[in-house]
Amino acid sequence: MPEAAKQFIQIKGLRYYYRKDGHAPEFVLDGIDLTINKGEYVAVIGANGSGKSTLLKHFNGLLTPAEGNVWISGLNTRDYDNMRDIRGTVGMVFQEPDAQIVATVVEEDVAFGPENLGVPQDEIRRRVDWALDTVGMSELKNRPSHLLSAGQKQLLVIASALSMKTKCLVLDEAASMLDPYARFKLMDTIARLHGKGMTVVTATHNMDEAALAQRIIVLSKGRISLEGPPGSIFTHDVDELKELKLAPPATVRIARRIAEQKSHFPEDILSVSGLVSEIARCYERSLNS
Ligand SMILES: Nc1ncnc2c1ncn2[C@@H]1O[C@H](COP(=O)(O)OP(=O)(O)O)[C@@H](O)[C@H]1O
Ligand SMILES: [Mg+2]
Repeated sequence: MPEAAKQFIQIKGLRYYYRKDGHAPEFVLDGIDLTINKGEYVAVIGANGSGKSTLLKHFNGLLTPAEGNVWISGLNTRDYDNMRDIRGTVGMVFQEPDAQIVATVVEEDVAFGPENLGVPQDEIRRRVDWALDTVGMSELKNRPSHLLSAGQKQLLVIASALSMKTKCLVLDEAASMLDPYARFKLMDTIARLHGKGMTVVTATHNMDEAALAQRIIVLSKGRISLEGPPGSIFTHDVDELKELKLAPPATVRIARRIAEQKSHFPEDILSVSGLVSEIARCYERSLNS
């Protein structure tokens, strides 16, 4: 694929500040250059206030740069004429579910986006059923949305984003209020959608979740301070990770402790099954030596 055709989100020299009357601008994003390719799965991590949500809000034109440019499938988010196409391309799930629920009943909320796009009624039905089933909310379709728990609201917002059938899904701490089973199911759903070619960007504080992505972007004070596959990010210098307020997943921490005793033991282990097989291999080696 030629370079331009591969790129999905392109960001050059992005700077952003929130206006505060009478104060000099303080840049919350301070010179971001980033390209996310079609079909990529990227996790954005970093301390509270590092700029994750602000960055993600630039991906569907909810915020536009103070300096620099953001293109989605080649469309500049600064150009208002592009907004409809951009919103139909990038589905967003923000951090605060209440701010995104627009209808009083669950299934109406999921239908709202496709209705606005003029999708035919029978197709809307199919999408609503599929989206609610995907997040495990089918039984709650007639429930008034204000009666949902915080986690259920999060799932509703995700279903409403799914029903738009966008090519890209951007999730801002979307699993933060979910119980472990719902979180596991959501991660499984994301993996399936990604497997079918969807571009996925997630901001998260959960390192096991971040480890599922193909690439991790670490933000610190509005800049990208580290970038790479999870295995390389989490095996980075311990003190530097601490400074960035990051703790590697438990599997990496355990592997590091073992590697202190067994120097050949790999540290970049991101799954429990991977850790178990390495320990088994190490045990076999010790029996044979
Ligand atoms: N609407 C807003 N008005 C003023 N400052 C804001 C607003 N939203 C975020 N900020 C500030 O911008 C910085 C980055 O915030 P945010 O992007 O939400 O970070 P993160 O998602 O990484 O926690 C923080 O210092 C935050 O206080
Ligand atoms: Mg945030």
